[in-house]
Amino acid sequence: MLSDSFGRIHNYLRISVTDMCNLKCIYCMPQETAHSGKSSFMSSGEICGIASVFSELGINKIRITGGEPFVRKDIDKIFYELADLPVSLAVSTNAVLIDRHINVLKDCSVNNINISLDTLNEEEFFYISKSSSLGRILENIILLLENNFTVKINFVVMRGINEDAVCQIASLTKHFPFEARFIEYMPFSGNNWSREKVFSHDEILEKIGDEFDYYKIPDDVHDTSKKYGIEGHAGIIGIISTVTKPFCGECNRLRLTADGKLKNCLFSQGETDLLTAFRKGLDIEDLIRSGLSEKRSERGGQFDNENMINRSMISIGG
Ligand code: 5AD
Ligand code: SF4
Repeated sequence: MLSDSFGRIHNYLRISVTDMCNLKCIYCMPQETAHSGKSSFMSSGEICGIASVFSELGINKIRITGGEPFVRKDIDKIFYELADLPVSLAVSTNAVLIDRHINVLKDCSVNNINISLDTLNEEEFFYISKSSSLGRILENIILLLENNFTVKINFVVMRGINEDAVCQIASLTKHFPFEARFIEYMPFSGNNWSREKVFSHDEILEKIGDEFDYYKIPDDVHDTSKKYGIEGHAGIIGIISTVTKPFCGECNRLRLTADGKLKNCLFSQGETDLLTAFRKGLDIEDLIRSGLSEKRSERGGQFDNENMINRSMISIGG
């Protein structure tokens, strides 16, 4: 088992398969993006080889992230190879291309799909993502629900940009059985973050309360979102309060970047290079354990939001 120095058991690995994306969300991708370059990315064989070591050490849930996973040409192969491991598989995506892969996701039992969607307004969507794919994303969300996938919508709330759409997305949960997750805007390298733009958990809840009768739903220990129900709605609301109320106490997650570095926390400064060792045929178990042993109790030990030292979100993987 993978335990850190606070006794937290880690059974959940998020693997980024690329730092490229077909959208350019302002809160994620820096204006000038320096991609790592394809040769420094893990190949599909390397992803699965490294993942199988993690699975032997007790990882039983793997989420594939990016950038955007479905821009990778060999993404289907990656899912088919990972499907042989004794882990449950999930994916985070912007859903623009997902209709082309739906059969692979079914074949590989990738049932949990998290989708970024930060507004329902075309102009606002273009401002946030520099793309006109909103219609396609909405069609694909409906397609996934019709096919009985478990869908969560990730909505990064930014003051003065999209907080007006919070209730619009919340109202979709009346008929659509997804979790609408509102995420506090987090600071990453090059993402134009400022304290004033953070629309907090309490403000989000207040806004929802203006239009709906909500009630608290119990959270699971490892949930990152605080969950609420709305009377008569098929779906639920979640709020992820990383900035104003961090929830690191029961953290069970590790991250592997597309260039094969282990990050023991979304906000960790330190990284452990697993890929170089793996390419040399070395055993990576000790590296994984030592990377995890350096995990800090909360937020990678970084509490000064204005002066975070980290990668950009697109190169960490959501
Ligand atoms: N703050 C909060 N959430 C973010 N994400 C990306 N960047 C940020 C940020 N700065 C989330 C998006 C996306 C997921 C991969 O990560 O909601 O869905
Ligand atoms: Fe792409 Fe997701 Fe980042 Fe937007 S948030 S740029 S969709 S990886």
